[in-house]
Amino acid sequence: MSAELAQSAVIVRNRSRPAEGETAASPAGPAPPGTAVRLPPSLPIPSYRQTLRFVSKPLDFHLSGARTLGDVWAVKIVTRDVPIAVTCHPDHVKSLFVADPADAPSLTGDSPLRPILGPTSVLTLVGDQHMRLRKLLLPPFHGEAVARYVEMISEVTERELDSWPVGRPFALAQRMQAITMDVIMAGVFGVACPPRQGTAEYRMRQTFSRLMRISAHPLWALVELRNARRIQARGVLRATLAVVDRQIYGAIARRRAQQARSDRTDILSLLLEVRDEDGKGLTDAELRDQLLTLVLAGHETTANTLAWTFERMLRTPAAYDRLHELVRSDDEGADEYIEATIHEGMRMRPVVPLLARLVKRPWQLGEYVVPANTPVAISVLALHHREDIYPDPYTFRPERFIETKPGTYTWIAFGGGIRRCLGAELAKAEQRVVLRALARRIDLAVVDPADEGARQRNVTMIPRKGGRVVVQSKRAG
Ligand code: HEM
Repeated sequence: MSAELAQSAVIVRNRSRPAEGETAASPAGPAPPGTAVRLPPSLPIPSYRQTLRFVSKPLDFHLSGARTLGDVWAVKIVTRDVPIAVTCHPDHVKSLFVADPADAPSLTGDSPLRPILGPTSVLTLVGDQHMRLRKLLLPPFHGEAVARYVEMISEVTERELDSWPVGRPFALAQRMQAITMDVIMAGVFGVACPPRQGTAEYRMRQTFSRLMRISAHPLWALVELRNARRIQARGVLRATLAVVDRQIYGAIARRRAQQARSDRTDILSLLLEVRDEDGKGLTDAELRDQLLTLVLAGHETTANTLAWTFERMLRTPAAYDRLHELVRSDDEGADEYIEATIHEGMRMRPVVPLLARLVKRPWQLGEYVVPANTPVAISVLALHHREDIYPDPYTFRPERFIETKPGTYTWIAFGGGIRRCLGAELAKAEQRVVLRALARRIDLAVVDPADEGARQRNVTMIPRKGGRVVVQSKRAG
């Protein structure tokens, strides 16, 4: 455990909490008319330091808030006019997830990613338009639909593992990204993996990688929408987006022309067929925004989640050995342990550590009441480290999820309510395949036994060094 986290751990443990497994109820939701505003306390450090901490020490940013101020606190980020209320209480989470969408819309509507993803992206739309798109997009992401991709994920994974060097350290996140990018290109566009050099698909993959690099700056997450639009209007981002548009519209046109081939199961082909209640399908512009959203939302998140899980597990030999043992002996408990490992990895290191809503009415958060139009953020990370919900929260222990399903409002690594991650089943399918294949074939070790810190990459929290590992030995596929 890093010194930064050790300090948080000690203090969180010392806070007075209800008995193990019990969380004291806390009233939350739209405040009755006439309720006086009572703002949560702010961290006693200047806003520039809070901003710096958010960008460069996200673990500390989240955990020190809960450590010093309890369930709710306020944060001031230099690039934003209004302070943000942050909560980590499951009752408050529930109030925001089940709220009427008009009362607590997602703040992604204001996201700096909006100019990149496009005005009709399901990720950044709010209200009725969001619900229409979400319904249209859901079918290709159901469990059964995702099951069709498992073989392809397996092939991509085995090929990638074949190429891993023995005895030479590398960052897992990058290698995982090679897998998740191939999976998303195959799943979304039906592209052969890996795409052949010189093909339109190959060029599209290169452009997506370039776009990811450009939009990855940690400060991008802090930029307000109006400034993001100004940045986008200039230079390299604008030029890259022009190429993205040309390539995606090209792929849509080619697929429309081949649409008679109804056996295709890639997401683009399925989306060309969907119709809403009025019989209306998606326009090309809407398709472009969704396809780009799926690629950008779907591959770095999964890759870094996998990197984090190994970063944690390799520093907990009991868990790593157990996984190896169960998988290598074909034990019937292996599937359950893999599932529990995925949940535990995402509990300790949720790559989306903050979910933001904008309350449109005065909102009660325990003993506090924030005024209408306050951004309210849920600290997924602080919620996942509550000792009353997760005893010994700083220990990586998949066993806590054996025979216990993650709670709807206490385990929220994929968000919740009407904004819950559309790709959750796909992301979990990828993790299952990769965890099993690695446990079967590869013996990994850490390069540096000290914990890796975290850093912010756009809206995600990633391992500072990408999850550095070394392959000690490898079995054939
Ligand atoms: C481990 C990997 C992933 C994690 C941790 C993750 C996490 C999340 C979270 C927390 C949200 C909700 C954001 C909010 O409430 O503000 C979200 C939304 C979303 N995710 Fe994921 N995601 C992952 C993988 C994927 C994949 C593979 C795809 C698609 C291929 C995807 C597509 C989406 C979309 C489209 C939304 C927007 C849903 C909506 O607003 O209705 N994600 N994701």
